[in-house]
Amino acid sequence: MKTQVAIIGAGPAGLLLGQLLHTAGIDNIILEHRSAEHVLSRIRAGVLEQVALDLLDIAGVGQRAHAEGLPHDGIELLFQGQRHRIDLHQLSGGQRVTVYGQTEVTHDLMQARAGAGLTTVYDAKDVQLQGIESPSPTVHYVKDGQAQTLQCDFIAGCDGYHGVSRRTIPPSVLRRYERVYPFGWLGVLADVPPVSHELIYANTPRGFALCSMRSKTRSRYYLQVPDGTRVEDWSDQHFWDELRLRLDAEAAQRLVTGPSIEKSIAPLRSFVAEPMRHGRLFLAGDAAHIVPPTGAKGLNLAASDVGFLFDALIEHYREGSSLGIDHYSERCLRRVWRAERFSWWFTSLMHRFPETGEFGQKIQEAELGYLVESHAASTALAENYVGLPMELLAHARQVG
Ligand code: APR
Ligand code: PHB
Repeated sequence: MKTQVAIIGAGPAGLLLGQLLHTAGIDNIILEHRSAEHVLSRIRAGVLEQVALDLLDIAGVGQRAHAEGLPHDGIELLFQGQRHRIDLHQLSGGQRVTVYGQTEVTHDLMQARAGAGLTTVYDAKDVQLQGIESPSPTVHYVKDGQAQTLQCDFIAGCDGYHGVSRRTIPPSVLRRYERVYPFGWLGVLADVPPVSHELIYANTPRGFALCSMRSKTRSRYYLQVPDGTRVEDWSDQHFWDELRLRLDAEAAQRLVTGPSIEKSIAPLRSFVAEPMRHGRLFLAGDAAHIVPPTGAKGLNLAASDVGFLFDALIEHYREGSSLGIDHYSERCLRRVWRAERFSWWFTSLMHRFPETGEFGQKIQEAELGYLVESHAASTALAENYVGLPMELLAHARQVG
C-alpha cells in the first residue's frame, strides 16, 4: 500500500489530522492498534478551546459540537468553603470555551472519516516505522496475521504516550522532560444533572475536587486520590460522600447522586519530548506531551499540534516549501510549554501536596484569595484557560 501521509493512531489527534488532510486533497491512511469500539470507550476531558473548535470546523466536522456543546463563559473556584466566579468571557476579551466530550469529538471524526470512505486499519498489530530519515519512509504492521507494508512521504506519530512513534526517534536526539505528581484523579460519570451550570474547581484540605459535565443531564466529577488508590476500593456511595465533603454547603445540598456509568483513576503527569520532528516523522498530541488534566489542555494541545502539522504539509504539497516542516517542532513547542506551565501551575494551586502539609494549604489559599481579587491575576488565569492564540495558520485557514 502507498499513501502520502501515514498516520499512526486513531485518537483525536490522528483522526483530526486525517480529516484536515482530506479536505486539502492530501491522501492519508490511519493505522490503529486497537479496535474502533475500544477507542470510543475511553472517557477523557471535555473542554474545547476556540482554536480546537475552529479546527473541527475547518475539517468540516464541527456541526454537532456547535449544536450540542455547551458554551461556558466562566468557571468557579472553591476554597475556604466559598465559591468565586472567574468571568472568562469578560476577562479574555470575549472568548469562551465549549464543553463537549472528547468521546463525542472522536465519534464525529470517525463518522466523517467513514463517510468520506477513507482507510483506517483498526487492530493493526506490531506497527514499526522504518526509514524516517530517508525521503521514503515505510510502516510495517501485521493485520489478521499477515505482514503488511505502507509506503509514504511522511509519518504522523499520533499514537499517544505509549505509542511506538516517539520510541523510533534515536535516544541521542530525543530529550524528555517529566514530572510525576504523587496523586491521581478518580473520575465518575453519571446520568445526573450537574451540580452547577459552570465547572467548579475545588481546593480543600481533603484534596482537590472538580465538578464538570458532559450535558445538562450527564455529570463528570473527579476527586484527588493518593497514588496507589484502586477503583475497586471506591463504591459509588463512598465517592458521593467524599465529593460532598469537598463542596461548599450550597453545592453539597444541591448535589444529585446516582449510579456511576464509568469510574476510573488517571495518574497525573507533566511530560514533553523534544524535538517533535525527526526526519519525516512528526509527533503530535500525547505522543509528544502530557499535561495533568487540571485545565483540560490535553485535547486542545493535540488539536493545535495537528493544526501546525496540517499547515506545514499543505505548504509542502502546494508550494513545495519546507518552511512549515522545518519550523513544526519549534512552533508547537512554544505553545506546548505555555500550556504545560499553565497546567502545572493550576495543578499546584488546587491540589493537596502531601509534602507541603498545612503550610502549603495556607499558601494556596493566600494565592487563591489574591487570584479572585486581582484583575491582573484573574485575567492571566482566564487568558490561559480559554487558550492562548495560535499564530501562523495561514495555509490551513485558506482551505477552511
Ligand atoms: N500502533 C498503532 N496505534 C497505537 C499504538 C501503536 N503502537 N500505540 C497507541 N496507539 C493508538 C492508541 O490506541 C490510541 O487510539 O494511538 C491512539 C492515541 O490516542 P490518544 O491517546 O487519545 O492520543 P491523542 O490522539 O494524542 O489525543 C490527545 O487524548 O489522552 C488524551 O489528554 C489527552 O485529550 C488528549 C488527547
Ligand atoms: C472533564 O470534564 O472531564 C474535565 C473538565 C475540566 C478539566 C478536566 C476535566 O479541567
